Amino acid sequence: VPPIVFYNQRQMSLRFEIHRTENSMRRATLHLPHGSVETPVFMPVGTAASVKAVPQDILETLGDDGRGAEIILANTYHLYLRPGHELIRRAGGVHKFMSWNRPMLTDSGGFQVFSLAALRKITAEGVEFRSHLDGSKHFFSPEHSIDVQIALGADIIMAFDECTEHPATYERTRDSMALTHAWAQRSLDHFHSHCQDVPWFNELGQRQNLYGIVQGGMYKDLRTESANRLLEMRAPNGEGFDGYAIGGLAVGEPREVTREIIAHTLELLPKDKPRYVMGVGYPDEIVEYAQMGVDQMDCVLPTRAARHALLFTSEGRLNIRGKKFSEDHGQADPECHCPVCRRYSRAYLRHLFHTGEPLAATLASVHNLSFYLDTMRKLRGERIAG
Ligand code: GUN
Ligand code: ZN
Repeated sequence: VPPIVFYNQRQMSLRFEIHRTENSMRRATLHLPHGSVETPVFMPVGTAASVKAVPQDILETLGDDGRGAEIILANTYHLYLRPGHELIRRAGGVHKFMSWNRPMLTDSGGFQVFSLAALRKITAEGVEFRSHLDGSKHFFSPEHSIDVQIALGADIIMAFDECTEHPATYERTRDSMALTHAWAQRSLDHFHSHCQDVPWFNELGQRQNLYGIVQGGMYKDLRTESANRLLEMRAPNGEGFDGYAIGGLAVGEPREVTREIIAHTLELLPKDKPRYVMGVGYPDEIVEYAQMGVDQMDCVLPTRAARHALLFTSEGRLNIRGKKFSEDHGQADPECHCPVCRRYSRAYLRHLFHTGEPLAATLASVHNLSFYLDTMRKLRGERIAG
């Protein structure tokens, strides 16, 4: 059976090659300007152009097979505030700035503005907000978010949306979703207006792709409406979004609800384009969602938990600060081949956390990210080098 291949019209800045579908899981390769990504994939979060506590050269070698992270994420909101997108554009884009030559995705700020910034004033035009750093006033519109993301130059950029809070009434969710839809069309139009002269290049000479984000909270009929609206949206050249994300999840709802909304929404999305669930999850969740047909996921959990001494292992979650590890000279996860498990003991990791050594965060993050990447690789059925 030949693979199903979707590619967009802009010189194949994105090509999604589905090798096979097992039950609902899709084994595919996502070809992007900075390289290819085996999916389903977990994308480590590098909020401020840094995956916290982990150097880029280590990111490139994480996991049992040493292939490392194939794509990471950064946040428009944070990089706009510091060091500023104009500075990053002058540096040659976020890839050059942080010396990361593999694919990247930037989130639009449509989540961070709503979760971090203070004193937000939301109008149809956009969001006025105060920086969580120094209280200074800023304004984000879909056009501005796209401009910032073009300056950053990630392989995949996201439409500017409103992540509806939870819980939210039906009326509130419907109004929020309507705003997201208007902003999605404006994001698409603005993105394509930059592609007009030289259709596949941004100012940095890099090709980029734009994903739309489905909202609609915990209401299935709104999710249906949102997916349909986004699928209809077209840029002037007739192209739709290059991929579709499901947003507004993991905002405090029960896990069964998350699963139901994902299952419901996946049914409505095109089979040939990448599908991305934003902001999930625990190891067992990302496995479950990948098996349902999700291609991309991201979450701060492996790195954030690591900084709080929480390790994900084949034996479950481990708080490495525990007294019982004080003289446990075995490796953190007996089944893990990551550079941390190969070299250091539980007792040593516990000691680093107890003494507040910065190395603690690095080692725990390296292990947790390796665990997440290996979890996905096993799911993809790739061979693991011992
Ligand atoms: N990250 C997690 N959830 C969301 C969402 O709904 N929208 C955006 N833009 N980012 C997210
Ligand atoms: Zn390990």
